[in-house]
Amino acid sequence: MKNWLPKWRVMSLFSMIALLLAGCGKPFLSTLQPAGEVASMQYDLLLLSTAIMVLVIIVVTIIFIYVVVRFRRRKGDENFIPKQVEGSHKLELIWTVIPILLLIILAVPTVAYTFKLADVKEMDAKKSDALVINVRSNAYWWEFEYPNQKIITSQDLVVPTDQKVYFKLKASDVKHSFWIPAVGGKMDTNTEGENKFWLVFDSKKAEEVDDVFYGKCAELCGPSHALMDFKVKALPKDEFDAWVKDMKAAKPEVADADAKAGEEVFKQSCIGCHAVEAQDQRPEQARQAPNLAGFADRERVAGVLEHNEENIKAWIKDPEAIKPGNKMTGTYKVSDEQIDQLAKYLESLKLQ
Ligand code: CUA
Repeated sequence: MKNWLPKWRVMSLFSMIALLLAGCGKPFLSTLQPAGEVASMQYDLLLLSTAIMVLVIIVVTIIFIYVVVRFRRRKGDENFIPKQVEGSHKLELIWTVIPILLLIILAVPTVAYTFKLADVKEMDAKKSDALVINVRSNAYWWEFEYPNQKIITSQDLVVPTDQKVYFKLKASDVKHSFWIPAVGGKMDTNTEGENKFWLVFDSKKAEEVDDVFYGKCAELCGPSHALMDFKVKALPKDEFDAWVKDMKAAKPEVADADAKAGEEVFKQSCIGCHAVEAQDQRPEQARQAPNLAGFADRERVAGVLEHNEENIKAWIKDPEAIKPGNKMTGTYKVSDEQIDQLAKYLESLKLQ
């Protein structure tokens, strides 16, 4: 009867791990189901290095077991000393050459891929059609600026599939890290100096996940680090172009009276930090909060909550409860009625 507790503990530990791991296999966020050229290369390296490691473990384990069994002390043979191999040239050669070979097998593709993945010549060229996106990370939200299209969006990154998308990464407060597990990365966003890299979003894989991949901050950056998510909408080229066009034209269409009232509240309390038009001309330092153009079409509220009016209200009412340490907390004062109006207004920020 005494033994049931540890067993129960082990069982619950295993089931918890199983539950945790069950979430890892989803195609929209799994590194193990690569959804683009970069992810595939990184996955191949992962497989190669794992294969080499497993091979070494297996060989060493077999030799170890063989030696333990073969040379164990036997009854009646206690004083037997087997042949001593210390200083054997043959053995030393073997265990020096094999690791060198293994390292070469690992190093050649790793170095080759590293240079390929870091190749951003196309993006730096004077005359270039490359699609460039400036990513700016902030505690705890993401800004995506399309310098050639002259639009800015936040939280939902929108990209075309099957072409190279170049990223220029930086941070405005502390170090964060830009990671789209299924598609590639991660790469740090720093306050000084820009990091650059490229990704390709595979159209077939994008279809499988209804066009939405999952992105994350991968650098411990503060109390809400784990909530610093973003979504990636990977669209066919023509749909992406249509989105850009819609974003350029996006203007709040305020129809009913509540939304109209909400717009007034917004102008009083929110507009100092949040823009509602994608062609935001203000300098970066002035853009202190997510751009809200096309907000009604976003996948999430505040990056993490399911998108609905209830959650918009909950977020405005008490952002601290949802994302501790965020910079919106305490910067405005609005009544419950005004929050209702604000939610109505935000839901009117639609693309055509
Ligand atoms: Cu930003 Cu973790």
